[in-house]
Amino acid sequence: MVKHRSSSRYSSSARLFSIKAISVYLILIFAFTIWVFVFSSINIQTDDHQTQDHQQHQRRDPRKNLQKPNDNLDSQLWIPPFSYGLHPCVKPTPRYKEFVESDRYITVRSNGGLNQMRTGIADMVAVAHIMNATLVIPELDKRSFWRDSSVFSDIFDEEHFIESLERDVKVVKKLPKEVESLPRARKHFSSWASVGYYEEMRHLWKEYKVIHVAKSDSRLANNDLPIDVQRLRCRVLYRGLRFSPAIESLGQKLVERLKSRAGRFIALHLRYEKDMLAFTGCTYGLTDAESEELRVMRESTSHWKIKSINSTEQREEGLCPLTPKEVGIFLKGLGYPESTVIYIAAGEIYGGDDRLLELKSRFPNLVFKETLAGEEELKGFTGHATKTAALDYIISVESDVFVPSHSGNMARAVEGHRRFLGHRRTITPDRKGLVKLFNKVERGQIKEGAKFSNLVKTMHQDMQGAPRRRKGPAQGIKGRARFRTEEAFYENPYPECICSSKEHKEP
Ligand SMILES: *[C@@H]1O[C@H](CO)[C@@H](O)[C@H](O)[C@H]1NC(C)=O
Ligand SMILES: *[C@@H]1O[C@H](CO)[C@@H](O)[C@H](O)[C@H]1NC(C)=O
Repeated sequence: MVKHRSSSRYSSSARLFSIKAISVYLILIFAFTIWVFVFSSINIQTDDHQTQDHQQHQRRDPRKNLQKPNDNLDSQLWIPPFSYGLHPCVKPTPRYKEFVESDRYITVRSNGGLNQMRTGIADMVAVAHIMNATLVIPELDKRSFWRDSSVFSDIFDEEHFIESLERDVKVVKKLPKEVESLPRARKHFSSWASVGYYEEMRHLWKEYKVIHVAKSDSRLANNDLPIDVQRLRCRVLYRGLRFSPAIESLGQKLVERLKSRAGRFIALHLRYEKDMLAFTGCTYGLTDAESEELRVMRESTSHWKIKSINSTEQREEGLCPLTPKEVGIFLKGLGYPESTVIYIAAGEIYGGDDRLLELKSRFPNLVFKETLAGEEELKGFTGHATKTAALDYIISVESDVFVPSHSGNMARAVEGHRRFLGHRRTITPDRKGLVKLFNKVERGQIKEGAKFSNLVKTMHQDMQGAPRRRKGPAQGIKGRARFRTEEAFYENPYPECICSSKEHKEP
């Protein structure tokens, strides 16, 4: 332009003409760019292609017009999948009925491990809201496999919990004296229940002032609930149920240490603990004595209903946790370099350190909370499985990549939280597909090399935690059985609690 201006050969009209020509030229380039854009976005890879749209509020998919990010090695391994500007949204709608004072009370005994209790508590807050009741701080499970004596305030920030839900539900620490001695309705609420079910349950208030709920897990359906109930569940889980200051601060410290050690790291939820193996009947790779020990444990645990399990069939159905060795082969197949730092989020590994050798030979930089934290720092944690599980939870949510070796409450809760926070990378192993490959390696039909690696990568390209709507029930399954086949609300709170950028942004 400077050149043009200084040139005396151009008359002013000629100059105007050249500016016009340049504009037209620019517009053409722009149009071409858009054309390329639209074309490339047709090939966008998301994890969405098999989802069903069963939610009431359908809006245009925000992802269709955006560009696919660069496909370099780094983005394949570490960078979160492209999230198309989606962001958390948990604010109530204008129709939301805020809490009104209530002199009726719900008391709850939460059951299960940390994550079963957390999601159960979120459900119970929503139930208290629907039933128009005051919630008493839930009692935690002390009888599960983990046998932890911790109470609510040992694990969670109780004051924050009460305050943050102020507009939703009144929460009190204890039943008031005058109702303590009154008779209580003792209820086992139906699992995966609808709002209508709990509205009906309000009839109990005619006779009782206190309802005691014996079990908190999965008391609400995953789907077909009003959006304000779903968002309330998210507010509880992602905002209200903060861990206690002691847990939160150590958790964040450990995350910092991992980051300063490696820059980035994988959190591996290695669900290879005794209870899980006994429950699933998975004895692949174990000694006869170990298999027998697990069988005896299963026999003698009364609330595990299935006693006779064929381990081979179980494994081939993809129902067994990956063994540490299998995880090593899997991560190597995905292309993670040997130097990768892997944080092991787990309780006690069945079989101890020896069982980790073949994972360690592929990835020497395994990190455990015991090696990351000082003995002094872990003092209040040892012997409290719920507290150490909370540390694992924090580190897993904050990791660059999260890999669960088995599906379960922790895997689901962490995956959902990571989706909520911006679709951080979560790689879910296709265990059924992998077992077929592992068996071929074992039979010498394929080697752990480039070809194997390509198969593993292809198998998992849509299992990296990219945005997609929650999956509905498996096809052809009717009645209550369908609930079991649905993707859990807490595994993927999209679309209710994750919105596109066209909607209002929240802080
Ligand atoms: C909620 O409970 C209070 C009393 O505890 C009652 O006055 C109020 O009408 C109830 N609201 C609804 C919507 O049932
Ligand atoms: C378990 O199932 C496999 C495959 O179906 C079969 O070959 C094997 O004999 C079964 N084992 C037992 C102990 O029944």
